[in-house]
This record gives sequence, C-alpha cells and structure tokens, in this order.
Amino acid sequence: MTAPVLEAKGLVKLFGRVVGLNDVDLTLYPGEVLAVIGDNGAGKSTLIKCLSGAMVPDEGSILVNGSAVHFKGPQDARDAGIETVYQTLAVAPALDIASNLFLAREIRRKGPLGSVLRMLDTSAMKQQATEHINRLGITTLQNIGQAVETLSGGQRQAVAVARAGAFGGKVVILDEPTAALGVRETGQVLKLVKDLRDQGLGIILISHNMPNVFEVADRIHIQRLGSCAGVITPRSHSMEDAVAVMTGAKTLTPTSGT
Ligand SMILES: Nc1ncnc2c1ncn2[C@@H]1O[C@H](COP(=O)(O)OP(=O)(O)O)[C@@H](O)[C@H]1O
Ligand SMILES: [Mg+2]
Repeated sequence: MTAPVLEAKGLVKLFGRVVGLNDVDLTLYPGEVLAVIGDNGAGKSTLIKCLSGAMVPDEGSILVNGSAVHFKGPQDARDAGIETVYQTLAVAPALDIASNLFLAREIRRKGPLGSVLRMLDTSAMKQQATEHINRLGITTLQNIGQAVETLSGGQRQAVAVARAGAFGGKVVILDEPTAALGVRETGQVLKLVKDLRDQGLGIILISHNMPNVFEVADRIHIQRLGSCAGVITPRSHSMEDAVAVMTGAKTLTPTSGT
C-alpha cells in the first residue's frame, strides 16, 4: 500500500464560539481524487484553508509525505507541493495563458538582464507553458498567447488547474471548480482532474455536485457540522447514502468505505 502524500490529524479550528473544525482527520494518497462534500457551514472551506496554508489550525497536525509541516501562509504550502485553486477564480484576466501559468514564478532572463532588470524570459515561459499544456492534454486551450479575459469560464478554470499541476506539485486542492460552469466546460475540468490524478498527483475536490463527485472521486470525505461524518467510496455507497450522511439522516459505522 502506498503511503499518504497528505495527512491531517485532529484538526481543530474555532471562530470564537463557532466551531469551524472539530477534530478532523483526512488522508490523501498519491494518484487519487478525494472528494470533500458537506452542507453549507460543514467546514469544507475551513478544512482546505488549513491544508493550503491560508489558515492556521488551533490544534492538530498536518503531514506531507509523512513529515510534519507548519504552514504559516499559502507560500509555505506551495513550497511543500500543495497547490490550491480557490472558488473565486485565481487567474489574472489581462495576462495571457503562459503568463498566468507562471504567475508568481516567472522565469527571468539569464544574467543581469534578469537578476538586475527583472526582465522576463517570455519565450522560455511560452515554450514551457505549451509543453505543459500538451502534456496534460488540454485541447481546449489553443493559443498560449491568448489573454485569459477572452477565455470561457471552463478554459479559465483549465488554466488555473493546469497552473496548480504545473510545478512538480504533489497535491492539488480544488474548491468548487465547476460551480459556475456549463455542462461541457464542467466535463473538460473533470477530465483535467482525472489527467492530473493519472499522473500521480493527489487531488482534493470540494464539490456540491453529487454526479460530478461520483464520476471522478476515488473516495469521498463527508463533513458534517465541523466533523468528518465518514469516508465512503462510489462503490460502497450510493449518492442517496452520501446525501443522507451529509444531512445527518444516516450515520456510518466507523469502518464503512475504508
Ligand atoms: N472567518 C470566519 N469567521 C467566523 N466564522 C467562520 C469563518 N470561516 C468560517 N466560519 C464558520 O465556520 C463554519 C464552517 O464554515 P466553512 O468552512 O466555510 O463551511 P463550508 O465551506 O463547508 O460551507 C461555519 O459555521 C462558518 O460560519
Ligand atoms: Mg465553502
């Protein structure tokens, strides 16, 4: 059995008297899609914010490849190989696709042109961006020089997901990536999620869309009222089961689905 790429143990996050997370464990293996589902306020966003360095948990531990990490901000998580695509789309609309892929890690020209004048090596970025997009099989993006503001919602999401998977990352976290997308675009983003998984990345997918979740998830972590109500798989349980556990109509025995 492969070792987890990302683990959370006993995460607690309180907002005054409001419980964001109450003793939550999470395990993510390389090469799998772990969906996180739950009603509004169940703690999904709080959970991924802790895993992506956007929030520091009050208690508990986070391990990457078995080693404890202490993220003080999103850059710490990125440095550890955890990339996050937030609900609010994290792209710069006026920049082209290649520039977006390299946002915050631009390639500088060699020598003093790069180190002193901060000049960008745009041809190297375009070439690497093209290679990366081809490797991922993103056929929906044709012109790497196209401004992101001229792309459709699904194409923008593809850019954000591609960026997340671009830099030797181990884990990609997606918070409701398809919430604002049409059916065809949703299909494209889900295909990209599967492609990243097949390349060995661990993917955490937060989604309200049960058919999407049951299409791509290997395992499903169910949050309820700040706690994990159980982990199931699309084979062990039906969508009706998942919704029943989410809403508290049904409880799982501790061993189900694992
Ligand atoms: N920054 C915050 N300040 C106060 N309460 C918060 C904050 N973030 C989340 N909460 C509360 O924590 C709980 C979990 O929220 P959240 O993680 O956003 O749930 P979800 O993403 O599953 O809808 C909710 O009760 C929410 O109101
Ligand atoms: Mg949320």
